[in-house]
Amino acid sequence: MVYYLSLLIHTRSRLGGLVQSLTKSNNNSVTAIRRYLSNQTLGNMYFDLNNGLKIPAIGYGTWLSNDEQELENALDAALEVGYRHIDAAFVYLNEHVIGRVLNKWFTTGKLKREDIFLTTKLPVCGMRPELVQKYLKESLASLQVDYVDLYLVHVPFGLKHVEGNTYPTREDGTIDFDANTNHAAIWKSMEELVGLGLSKSIGVSNFNADQISRLLKNCKIPPCNLQIEHHAYLQQKDLVQFCKENKIVVTAYSPLGSPGLSKLGTQTPDLMGHEGVKEIAEKYNKTSAQILLRHIIQKGIVAIPKSTNPERLKQNIDIFDFKISDEDMKTLNDLDRNLRILNFKSLFKGIENHPEYPF
Ligand code: A2P
Repeated sequence: MVYYLSLLIHTRSRLGGLVQSLTKSNNNSVTAIRRYLSNQTLGNMYFDLNNGLKIPAIGYGTWLSNDEQELENALDAALEVGYRHIDAAFVYLNEHVIGRVLNKWFTTGKLKREDIFLTTKLPVCGMRPELVQKYLKESLASLQVDYVDLYLVHVPFGLKHVEGNTYPTREDGTIDFDANTNHAAIWKSMEELVGLGLSKSIGVSNFNADQISRLLKNCKIPPCNLQIEHHAYLQQKDLVQFCKENKIVVTAYSPLGSPGLSKLGTQTPDLMGHEGVKEIAEKYNKTSAQILLRHIIQKGIVAIPKSTNPERLKQNIDIFDFKISDEDMKTLNDLDRNLRILNFKSLFKGIENHPEYPF
């Protein structure tokens, strides 16, 4: 399968070169072909969603990218080297930067809206059916687009809705959650977004299998994607298998073990420095990051690594020209140790008391 894809990419880029030389005189064709070729920059690989859409296997993660200029430069670099999938969220507070960059690429004709797979997410403070559309519309305005390709319910629990305060707390410092979060009602509003053309597809994030099962029993449009923390130390094999059986594509956030979180005081394991990973990397003449990402996509899982460094973000999408052997895949599978890095209980103090707390 992977070899077939590499062959296809190789053949397409050769054909692209031929077509380009044949049509030099025609400006429109040249623009179209340039765009086509730029889509092939580092090759890409797609997974099929249950609604017929294709999601690029590697996406550009934008959480914790708070320096506007740095993100803008990084996004430019990412689009330049071939990223066609951007993962955003209302709560990352940087959708306006993504919008600015995308608008620049669209208006100069370097890319078309349909070239990009754009995801964003319903915030935890918007977990009420009547707020779903409002929050997506705010994201669309910031992103400067008419629709997103995928809208995700960011977390399964909700907070009290306090206008102008996305993070309400109680007097004792705990998070002011809304214990009546109603998934079925929220999902109905999510389905309406598809009917309105505001999102091409809908899914969930940080949900557990039981929560997804309930949704599946009570929906018109089944979720097509589950985004979860997933890396070599937290492979969540049962949940991934459950999603596979239910035709839900899984997306891995923190695929490199989220070393950037250490800046926020969170202890993170040195996945890229693991001796076993380093050995495999040496064998394939790749970096540890490339091995960790290739391991994930070779299991049929989308990965959305974050990097604002042009060299590293280029590395992270340059993983389509090799295949990890079954033996090395097993070594990487065996690194699993159920180690969750992102601690929701510290992000939302007291959230473990919410009836929909997922872990
Ligand atoms: P930087 O932005 O300086 O490249 P994750 O996606 O698992 O959350 O990991 C993101 C973190 O990993 C960021 O701190 C990022 O730092 C770092 N990172 C991303 N790609 C690489 C890479 N190829 N090699 C080393 N570190 C990387």
